[in-house]
Amino acid sequence: MEKKSCDTKTDLTQKLIPPVLYLILAVLLVNLLLYQYFNYVYPSYGQADVEHDSCQHGYFRLGTVKNCSPWLSCETLKREVRKLKRIGEGAVKRVFLSEWKENKVALSQLTVPELQEDFIHGLQMLKSLQSRHVVKLVGYCEEEFTVLTEYHPFGSLKNLNEILNLPKYKSFNTWHIRLLLAIDYVSILHYLHNSPLGTLVMCDSSDLDKVLSQYLLTSSFHVIVNDLDALPLVDKNAGRLIKCGHRELQGAFVAPEQLWPRGNEMAFEDSLMPPYDEMTDIWKIPDVSNFILGDVDGSDLVRFHLFDIHGACKRSPAERPSAQTVLDTYKKVLESLVRETVMPRRRDML
Ligand SMILES: Nc1ncnc2c1ncn2[C@@H]1O[C@H](COP(=O)(O)OP(=O)(O)O)[C@@H](O)[C@H]1O
Ligand SMILES: [Mg+2]
Repeated sequence: MEKKSCDTKTDLTQKLIPPVLYLILAVLLVNLLLYQYFNYVYPSYGQADVEHDSCQHGYFRLGTVKNCSPWLSCETLKREVRKLKRIGEGAVKRVFLSEWKENKVALSQLTVPELQEDFIHGLQMLKSLQSRHVVKLVGYCEEEFTVLTEYHPFGSLKNLNEILNLPKYKSFNTWHIRLLLAIDYVSILHYLHNSPLGTLVMCDSSDLDKVLSQYLLTSSFHVIVNDLDALPLVDKNAGRLIKCGHRELQGAFVAPEQLWPRGNEMAFEDSLMPPYDEMTDIWKIPDVSNFILGDVDGSDLVRFHLFDIHGACKRSPAERPSAQTVLDTYKKVLESLVRETVMPRRRDML
């Protein structure tokens, strides 16, 4: 009798072991694939900011060219760059699609002499902050107020919906790509807030269109920052805070601490306007991300998962999360949603 029950147990164990082993193997395999996927999506995740096609400071490389060349000088710019057509304009720069040795490049020129200081500040920032988050600098001529950068045919992030709605990019118009783009955007803020120069605030950001126009959408569907003309430095240890310009800011898009605190009771006066810090960028994250996530299958599910962190971004400045915390949360949401998509019934199976 005892032997029979023992045999039945052994039988049962023998029957159960293979499926359990297969299940464990399947889970391991999926985890391995997810690991590879996240390594592919974030090559620099958990490492120093390694860039695969980077050149040393003062050099650039375009397209598939192997060697790095020094940034083009005034003479080379004048001699070898040909303007083709105007592709954009903001307050500070007029931007032209141009050609340099069969490469398409973007030539930016100062619009009005009064904004020279902003133009030069932007150029200094471009030189200092070259990384995978920032548009590639190809050359410049300070005397002529000219900057040459890599050309990105999709233009600014404002064009995102237009591009993703084109039939040929339909397969990219997914919650997944859109969440990756939002992660790029928050990664840029994280980079600026922890830059080699210190904590920099993206001040050219008084409304949604304005923010979007400072970033470019690359043809490999990444977001990079392009316009660095208004990036003041916060130094909390030295008690140094900033103000985005000297004029009164209005509207619901800017952070509450950027608004004139005395309302109608007293006219705006710059010297009496209290300064603030990089938390103004955090306040704007939910609005920019909502635009990036758009209106496709799954966008609302992503929004649902981001609800709490976005709520936290709208708290008082001291209570807002850092860009690092927002970034970590975005990555966790991506990871769990991808996991759920790859093996939706994994929990039921176990
Ligand atoms: N490298 C580029 N590739 C493609 N479009 C660009 C590039 N640089 C600028 N643009 C276009 O020009 C617009 C204005 O450029 P930007 O540097 O923001 O000027 P401003 O400093 O005057 O705001 C951008 O919003 C974008 O549409
Ligand atoms: Mg701009």
